[in-house]
Amino acid sequence: MDSRKKVFVTREIPEAGLKMLEQHFDLKVRREDSPIPRDKLIEELKDCDGVLTILTDKMDAELMDQVPNLKVISNFAVGYDNIQVPQATQRGIAVGNTPEVLTQSTAEHALALIMSVAKRTNEGDMVMREDSFPGWGPMYMLGTELEGKTVGIIGYGRIGQKLGEMMEKAFDCKIIYMDHSEKSTGGARKVELDELLRESDIVSVHVPLNENTRHFIGEKELKMMKKSAYLINTARGPVVDEEALLKALQEGTIRGAGIDVFEKEPRRLAGLEKCKNLVMTPHTASATWEARTKMSEVAAQNIIGVLIEGQAPVSILNQEVLAK
Ligand code: GLV
Repeated sequence: MDSRKKVFVTREIPEAGLKMLEQHFDLKVRREDSPIPRDKLIEELKDCDGVLTILTDKMDAELMDQVPNLKVISNFAVGYDNIQVPQATQRGIAVGNTPEVLTQSTAEHALALIMSVAKRTNEGDMVMREDSFPGWGPMYMLGTELEGKTVGIIGYGRIGQKLGEMMEKAFDCKIIYMDHSEKSTGGARKVELDELLRESDIVSVHVPLNENTRHFIGEKELKMMKKSAYLINTARGPVVDEEALLKALQEGTIRGAGIDVFEKEPRRLAGLEKCKNLVMTPHTASATWEARTKMSEVAAQNIIGVLIEGQAPVSILNQEVLAK
């Protein structure tokens, strides 16, 4: 009989992490290209010691109570709003995430959204696909230069700081940020939200989703932004009120937006598709071979570190569970 501990992986991830897990565990990988239904997940986890989850797997108290052997939930993401961490802690379940390794990819994606909405590249691409280019015109499809602009970063953690650094280096932008703590990086200045919204030419959101950040940017905040400003969201959809954003884009309250995350993924609010001043991507900010490969390794190591004696995890959110 195989006495190795059992680990379940809810979705196919890059092989690097799976190879690591295979060395230590009785591993089962669900290779279907869709989120696992909740009842199937509970069924699979009945006798598992560890699980590697993705951000659509809801790991709440009700589920945890049905899977008594579970010792570690390792999320294949830096965000962990799909997991009830305090409830996991109460039950002695360690929760891991994958910070650092997707910072570059996500910041580059935010930059790509800024570039494409400011230069109107997607809109131009659409015109060419439709063959509806009316011919060169002095006032045709004017965009915005980024040189020297003010970038307001909401949530100045790893990703926010990386984007700030990129914008400063590439375009000599002035960086202001809102964060709970003071960060000492480059010439960036900490400001209150009101000032950030009023002063910024680009507002980029990088806070995690929790009770305090749900609809953090709504109608009032969008109205405080410059009419010429852009909003970028690569964090979590519900941080921005999607209805309010649609209205702001329709009415020209702001000049445009670049959005990678949505309130009710995988759906987007009806009407957004008609906004030419909006660039949308389907939650792909960390979707690079580099980031996803490293995420698979970190997520695997978090399971190995919790379940195998003498091994250390990379990032466990509720360290107190390990101390016991
Ligand atoms: C992706 O959205 C993540 O949180 O890693």
